Amino acid sequence: MDSLQSPRGTRDILPEDQQYWNFIRQAVAKKATYFGFDRIDLPMFENVKTFTRSIGSGTDIVEKELYEVKRFSEKQSSLESKNNFALRPEGTAGVVRAYIQNGMQYWTQPIKLWYLGSMFRYDRPQKGRYREFQSMGAELIGDESPASDAQIILLAWEVFVELGLDNNLIVDINTIGDDNCRPKIRKALVSYYENNYQDLCQDCLNRLKSNPLRLLDCKNESCNKIKKNAPQTFDLVDENCKKNFKEVLEYLDELNIPYDLNPSLVRGLDYYTRTTFEFRQKEDTERQSALGGGGRYDGLVELLGGQPTPAVGFGLGLDRMVELLKKSRISLPNENISQVCLISLGERAKLIAVSLIQEITRAGFKVTFAPQKDSLKAQLRFANKVNSAFALIIGQKEALDNTIIVKNLDDSSQEIISRNKLISYFNKKLSRVN
Ligand code: HAM
Repeated sequence: MDSLQSPRGTRDILPEDQQYWNFIRQAVAKKATYFGFDRIDLPMFENVKTFTRSIGSGTDIVEKELYEVKRFSEKQSSLESKNNFALRPEGTAGVVRAYIQNGMQYWTQPIKLWYLGSMFRYDRPQKGRYREFQSMGAELIGDESPASDAQIILLAWEVFVELGLDNNLIVDINTIGDDNCRPKIRKALVSYYENNYQDLCQDCLNRLKSNPLRLLDCKNESCNKIKKNAPQTFDLVDENCKKNFKEVLEYLDELNIPYDLNPSLVRGLDYYTRTTFEFRQKEDTERQSALGGGGRYDGLVELLGGQPTPAVGFGLGLDRMVELLKKSRISLPNENISQVCLISLGERAKLIAVSLIQEITRAGFKVTFAPQKDSLKAQLRFANKVNSAFALIIGQKEALDNTIIVKNLDDSSQEIISRNKLISYFNKKLSRVN
């Protein structure tokens, strides 16, 4: 029989890697809380319209990467049918749906929410690109001031600082204007690209008709050359958007956050207006492996059925951050809490050992249990193998007189203590699990 494998583009995160994930999860939770963001948890799947309407039907994410969710017994379905569901490819659309559904427009604005979890995209799997990946996002809904753009970029930046990943980091930033500026931008791009259409890839020929802004997002080599001389969105946006953008940049200067003006940064999702940004390693000039990205999306709440409400947010890619942490050899807070290992010989001793598990864990210490069927020697070998600090040995004699042999596995010294003194002994010798 074939052995079963995890689906392509998914993976198991094994115990040895959990320390990196915990480090990041703790840092994002801490920073989001400091910045006054509240946690929200959202469904892993939503009505497909939540995504098609917001991310945009002409984008790669919707056209090529959405996973449908349905029962095996259901009939054929399409993106257009009413009750179709899709696995979330990102978090913003779900947050906005939740904002509207839960009447958050009536709460004190702005609403500041953060989330963390799996996202699903049918991407081409490679290093740093998975079909299930972990993302942390933050959304600030209900404020249009450039100070909110800056606050959002600062929060993401501070997460990187907290993790020690800011050394080689830079923010790519651009403005892509709002609904007022779009007709002018579209017209300029269409007329420029029409003059170069013979060198465009098939995707870009389609984009020329359906969504000209996306032309700037193409990574194809021949399209890249054309892109270099394309009209720049900053020159085409109206005075209001220009003023806003300059203000955002002033805040970044003030905060000493390094940035690069990148005129082709339109991002892969259609809901953005005005500011767009991405975090990348300085040498990753082609933005092949962005660590995070985001921007303003002032039209999205209305597009999904709510009142017109400005908003801005970002998403970080945790898988890529873990890879970078490993590569950077940053030392992590020590997670190797020392543990004690219970060793027992005989039926009565086994009973005591089990009740000691309860006592020791309630006191906040980490405990493990050696395989009972084994000899004393084999159990001690096990205790050493799993890196225990102490072995607690209960033989027949100890079981009778309520004592325990405590063996220090570092220096092999041992002492006999009475059972009721055990916890106060550990209080002096061991650190607790937080
Ligand atoms: P995004 O840029 O599509 O933005 O995704 C955010 C981050 O997720 C990326 O910068 C990248 O690090 C990571 N990522 C994306 N796809 C993959 C993949 N296949 N494998 C591994 N990591 C990946 C958004 O999702 C927006 N919702 C961000 C946002 C929030 N904008 C406003 N608010």
